[in-house]
Amino acid sequence: MMYAAIMGYGTIGSGVAEILLGNRERIARCAGQEIGLKYVLDLRDFPDSPVADRIVHDFHVIEEDEQVKLVVETMGGLNPAYPFVKACLEAGKHVVTSNKALVAAHGTELLQIARDRGVNFFFEASVGGGIPIIRTLYRCLMGEGIQEITGILNGTTNFILTKMDREGASFGEVLREAQELGYAEQNPEADVEGHDTCRKIAILTAMVTGKEVNYEDIHTEGITRITDMDFRYAKKLEASVKLLGSSRIVGDKVYARVAPVMIGREHPLYSVCGVYNGILVKSDMLGTSMYYGSGAGKLPTASAVVADLIEAAQNEGSNVSIGWGEGRQEIADNETNESRYFVRISGDAEEKSGQVQRAFGQVRTLVMEGADEFAVLTEGMREAEFKERAIALDSEWQKAGGEGIRQIIRAELEG
Ligand code: HSE
Repeated sequence: MMYAAIMGYGTIGSGVAEILLGNRERIARCAGQEIGLKYVLDLRDFPDSPVADRIVHDFHVIEEDEQVKLVVETMGGLNPAYPFVKACLEAGKHVVTSNKALVAAHGTELLQIARDRGVNFFFEASVGGGIPIIRTLYRCLMGEGIQEITGILNGTTNFILTKMDREGASFGEVLREAQELGYAEQNPEADVEGHDTCRKIAILTAMVTGKEVNYEDIHTEGITRITDMDFRYAKKLEASVKLLGSSRIVGDKVYARVAPVMIGREHPLYSVCGVYNGILVKSDMLGTSMYYGSGAGKLPTASAVVADLIEAAQNEGSNVSIGWGEGRQEIADNETNESRYFVRISGDAEEKSGQVQRAFGQVRTLVMEGADEFAVLTEGMREAEFKERAIALDSEWQKAGGEGIRQIIRAELEG
């Protein structure tokens, strides 16, 4: 029997307890021994829950109990998750977490402590919820040179964008509905401003490069400025707008970014809708592979935590190498990122076509019937080059006393 403790009895923590207690025999068969749930740490009591007699309020009970070899961290945030996890690893306990903020901020250090102590720090549930992407990267794709990893990594924003696309609703309306349904937090900033996706792509990039990635180095934009009008144009292009976290590895350079991107039907991530997540991996031998499923939610996320617990139990006396070592991975300046751009412009397409073509070169023009604007799709160019041209063009119109560019969205579209 190996004893486990759960720190944080919220949505995910209670899901982990449910699976540990409900699938006890199957888990014992896989782990080679029974995993007994000894403690659940929380500030609250849960007198009517199946773990009522295991609740403790003092972290030191877990830290000092030598029988407890496995610890699950599902508290979220950095404080006290970080000091608690660090103390558990230093005490020679395996730690499994679903906490992307913790992994993105302190992953390198916590992995080093785990190596030094001969235990494991696993975090499958921190990216893509129940989708097994972390283990896929360090195990199934271990012989591959990864060239790109691009994902829809946030269920809340994908739910909002999908509704805007299908129903023609505004961002504000759908956000309110998502909050009522419990998909979006009352303070949705981390999701809608792209911070959650940023931490997740930072973790995936660290897994791929084997080095620490400072998530603050990744250029991050959210979805708050995406409008129903953007989706009307997207329909004309048989496209949609998705919030993508992306990393491209070119030699020793990594181009990473989080931003809304217009993608067409032919793009593998186009069909990833609603609260689902999808992760596209391009690698040198396998080519393109994609991983799809529930990126959030109680049991999908808890399932990934339990799989990590089983792997830790199978490797009771040893550290499993997952390839994320020391050293810092530099992220290339966002200005050097290259893409096409969808640009909405006020006024008449014919009147402005000369100026637009002089600025951007060859473009595809889209006219929106009944609207006082049109849009163009540029060819691919670097961010710095595009910005310079767009600013010059816009200021020509501003100087003439008119309105200019209304919207810019990066585009990955054919044709
Ligand atoms: N807020 C996150 C999401 C939860 O919407 O995807 C899972 O990390």
